[in-house]
Amino acid sequence: MRLRRKPWIETAIHEFDSFVYPKDRPAGEAERGHWHEIFGRRAPLYVELGTGKGDFISQIAVREPQHDFIGIEAEQDVLYRAAAKVAALSLPNVRLLVFDIKDMATLFLPGEIDGLYLNFCDPWPKKRHFKRRLTYREFLETYRLLLKPGGKLWFKTDNRPLFEFSLEEFAAAGLTVADVSYDLHAEARPDNIETEYERKFSGFGEKIHRCEVTFP
Ligand SMILES: C[S@@+](CC[C@H](N)C(=O)[O-])C[C@H]1O[C@@H](n2cnc3c(N)ncnc32)[C@H](O)[C@@H]1O
Repeated sequence: MRLRRKPWIETAIHEFDSFVYPKDRPAGEAERGHWHEIFGRRAPLYVELGTGKGDFISQIAVREPQHDFIGIEAEQDVLYRAAAKVAALSLPNVRLLVFDIKDMATLFLPGEIDGLYLNFCDPWPKKRHFKRRLTYREFLETYRLLLKPGGKLWFKTDNRPLFEFSLEEFAAAGLTVADVSYDLHAEARPDNIETEYERKFSGFGEKIHRCEVTFP
């Protein structure tokens, strides 16, 4: 997601220091293995990969106050928008990190995460870029390491080739895939929380694909 660069955000993001780890104060070794202490309780921990402007994480954190949520987003200017939403709702169960997912093993101990949400990640359509897709097998191995045994990944995308690629990667990694939908919005799914991209692309008439992946 690209926004016009806004230098003022580098200062303004510090308004949210109580729950945001900005670019100049990233989370790392000090937090790794200590997320329960940071949240002040032992609740199941869910991580959203590529949080964007935060519609999903802010809504799920309201709906599931018994769970803690961490949003990881590479672009600080984008995460600022998510932080404003979380602050407006005063959500004690959310932390937001400006961070690159490829380094997420430095943030969590093996087995520290209960579940992952991956919503509308970049499809990297060029064949030579397939290793950058967040469902490529190397990423799946990182998720396997950091998830508890039996942990889940919930995946949504509007991009059919990425969805097919991902299903193949899940199968090659020996993961169990359930609840596969090629047109989520055609189903009665009152539990579905729409993300910014989901609203945009379903508005253009694109079908939304989703599945639930279990890491045995
Ligand atoms: C297409 S947007 C989707 C945003 C949101 N999840 C949604 O569904 O509306 C993908 C987001 O993932 C972020 N992203 C992509 N690669 C990333 C990475 N390696 N680490 C952290 N964030 C990443 C992008 O900056 C962008 O905000």
